[in-house]
Amino acid sequence: MSGELSPIDKAKFVAAKRAVDYVEDGMRVGLGTGSTAAWMVRCLGELVREDGLRVTGVPTSSRTAALARDVGIEVVSLDEARWLDLTIDGADEFDGNLNLIKGGGGALLQEKIVATASDQMIVITDAGKEVEHLGAFPLPVEVVPFGWQTTKALVEEMLVSVDVLGRDTSLRMNGDRPYITDEGNYILDLHLGRIGNARQLSMVLNQMPGVVENGLFVDICDVVVIGYGDGRVELRDINEGTVETDRLEFVEDDNLFRDLTD
Ligand code: 5RP
Repeated sequence: MSGELSPIDKAKFVAAKRAVDYVEDGMRVGLGTGSTAAWMVRCLGELVREDGLRVTGVPTSSRTAALARDVGIEVVSLDEARWLDLTIDGADEFDGNLNLIKGGGGALLQEKIVATASDQMIVITDAGKEVEHLGAFPLPVEVVPFGWQTTKALVEEMLVSVDVLGRDTSLRMNGDRPYITDEGNYILDLHLGRIGNARQLSMVLNQMPGVVENGLFVDICDVVVIGYGDGRVELRDINEGTVETDRLEFVEDDNLFRDLTD
């Protein structure tokens, strides 16, 4: 129930609710991963079930696929859809150019492939994730398990020559074992503090053997929908150079607010 939501959850919910207004009948939609994206999948499912909206969803993780099917969205693979009209996803950080850090939820590889195969990427977020410089949130880097310690050492060595504040790296764990992505890889979290040149860092990382992909999304996001705990929403479109504001009412809805586990 909305009365039990924290201000952050309300912010995530209104951002998600407003973002599904971008979805039109017949669209192929990339479905992001994480708690904000889960709200979006639920809101979209409601439109499918109650308004008869026809959409095909391409999930960015096994978690999102399960939720999407649960709420009534037809799920297909990216290879079946080929190209998408829109992807809606959360982020861990975004800056003034709508560059992002993603992958806090461990799904950055599929998220980046899906967002890049979309005409438009919309990021849904609360205001607390806006930063002047990316990097306070640890940068996730997906690496193959083979030789991961060597890859980690090489990444640390490489960081000496780029514009970052910190250079600590850690293997993401799931209890006492390495966290395993949907693609069977590991994640290194890079504690950089501040990233001076996100484009350069992204390119250098992706040239390293053992690195599969990194969580920097540079020039991929088109629109950010920022939610606030009081129902306000701000929509920034980087291509149009526009900023719009809106306000959403919280309507108690058992279907949307029940059993949210992501
Ligand atoms: C998952 C992600 C998420 O979008 C990011 O971690 C934000 O998550 P949340 O909406 O739960 O704050 O990149 O890999």
